[in-house]
Amino acid sequence: MTDKYAVIGNPISHSKSPQIHRMFAEQTGQDISYEKIEAPLDGFAATVERLRKEGYKGCNVTVPFKQQAYQLSVPVEFTFEVGFAHAANTLEFQDGQIKAHNTDGVGLLRDIEQNLHANLRGKRILLMGAGGAAIGVATQAASLLLSQMPGTTLVIANRTVEKAHALARACSPSARVKGYSYQELEDQKFDVVINATSTGLTDEMPPLPLGIFAPGALAYDMMYGRVTPFMKFAREHGAAIVADGLGMLVEQAAEAFYIWRGVRPDTAPVIAALRKP
Ligand code: ATR
Repeated sequence: MTDKYAVIGNPISHSKSPQIHRMFAEQTGQDISYEKIEAPLDGFAATVERLRKEGYKGCNVTVPFKQQAYQLSVPVEFTFEVGFAHAANTLEFQDGQIKAHNTDGVGLLRDIEQNLHANLRGKRILLMGAGGAAIGVATQAASLLLSQMPGTTLVIANRTVEKAHALARACSPSARVKGYSYQELEDQKFDVVINATSTGLTDEMPPLPLGIFAPGALAYDMMYGRVTPFMKFAREHGAAIVADGLGMLVEQAAEAFYIWRGVRPDTAPVIAALRKP
């Protein structure tokens, strides 16, 4: 019997998740369906309840419901990141329970390390932003980096510096993750600069100093589907590689697919297919 899944958001019409999961299913021979569902802004919980009653096995959750998805669920083990971020993007409906996961941080790191071939060991990483998108990836990324890569440093910069301090503290009480203002980045260089601010949406640019990119640096914007002012700045100011967030989108979906189906899809052909004009 076909197992049913969906992605819930508002708006949702732009979502590429159905296309991605259909490609994963085809590739791995998994018998699933996957659709997009726009829940009313005050109707997320009711939508999830309906899906559970109709026998769906799980769903992805996107803006603006990730926090509500967390509140509905019983966080499962290994999901420290869900606990801090208070946000979930993947729900499993199992044994009468809703289990929550957040696969965004893993998706980001996999894209950077495996698809873009950046070795993060011993590197200096800058994460810009301390809002929902940054919180969603920071704790997971920090816990993986700190546990597996002793020499790696993570700096979080935010316009409202108190939020950068708070997020850095939440990522690592041992002060291995630092929270800075943009002014404090003056005269510093980073090997990887990740834009998790919402500036791409408003065509703005975070106030980065000009010499921020170390030789060979990777500039990564978590947004996809457009060249953001940050990506343009990075090209003009010395980043060796400039990437958008399409790979992260596919990688976080692959991790969700693995959680649900126990099979790891090959992401490279899916990313390539989505990049075709
Ligand atoms: P999202 O869910 O996309 O993260 P958010 O929670 O509203 O949205 O957070 C937006 C992030 O982008 C914040 O880190 C915000 O900085 P502040 O916390 O200081 O508001 C950041 N941001 C938005 N516009 C910015 C700008 N012009 N320059 C620098 N940072 C900006």
